[in-house]
Amino acid sequence: MSDTMNDKRGAERAIESLKKLPDNVQSSQAWNSIFRPGSIFRNGYTDSPRNRSYVIMNSVLYHLHPVKVKRHAVKVSYTLCLGGLSFFLFIHLTITGIFLMFFYRPTAVSAWSDIYTLQTSVTFGLLVRNMHRWGAHLMVLAVFLHMARVFYHGAYKPPREFNWVIGVVLLLLTLLLSFTGYLLPWDQLSLWAVTVGTNMMGYTPVFGNQVRFVLLGGVDIGTETLLRWYVLHVLLLPFVIVIFMAVHFWRVRKDGGISGPL
Ligand code: HEM
Repeated sequence: MSDTMNDKRGAERAIESLKKLPDNVQSSQAWNSIFRPGSIFRNGYTDSPRNRSYVIMNSVLYHLHPVKVKRHAVKVSYTLCLGGLSFFLFIHLTITGIFLMFFYRPTAVSAWSDIYTLQTSVTFGLLVRNMHRWGAHLMVLAVFLHMARVFYHGAYKPPREFNWVIGVVLLLLTLLLSFTGYLLPWDQLSLWAVTVGTNMMGYTPVFGNQVRFVLLGGVDIGTETLLRWYVLHVLLLPFVIVIFMAVHFWRVRKDGGISGPL
């Protein structure tokens, strides 16, 4: 056999194996461990009700939603997406908050000047600070309106009573996050707002003084208070609210999806 024929056969074999490459990759163990059943990236995908269900069940983001939803539940006009909007604002606040943390130190000496420098000298500092502040106001509003929507639809009734209670805890946590963030700029507004707030909490029956002492980290507002509220604001409260949100979303699913229709 001549060399030219050998070359031709070799080239044909190479082309043949290139053609089979997508098939071989798609049937490999590595590929199938990433793309789960129902994915259009798997060999032999067909558009069937079974595969559509798999798409929802096997995706980390989609699986938060049920495989089947009631027709009214996907209407924006029913929920106004207020719960989703509250969640979106929480994510927005986390991202902008992380940006702010790079430039802020929670001590009485540096807090105010760090915020001042952030606004005047850091690129996009003023913009991100305002996005965080407005986001916080909007989240309180969104959560409140979401609660009003739930109440209007009577979705607090069985079987959703427990989720309503979880919701009340979420409302309290949202307000606490908002209030603890208020002290951090360490300006006159913050100091007096927190003075009034902690004085009110000092009127708690029986152990009011102790409550005030724990919240202030002493008898007066100072660096200890700032550090305490900073840790509450950036760590403890977000951690707790994420856990309650997870239970809240899980309960929506377990209670048979969104309530209604009216
Ligand atoms: C951080 C705050 C909150 C977040 C992120 C949140 C998120 C959500 C989401 C995404 C849903 C699914 C449907 C929808 O958008 O309405 C939902 C449903 C629900 N939420 Fe919230 N929620 C929050 C606060 C609250 C509050 C304050 C209450 C009441 C006190 C509440 C009670 C409920 C109830 C009962 C349902 C089921 C509604 C239905 O079946 O129609 N949630 N929540």
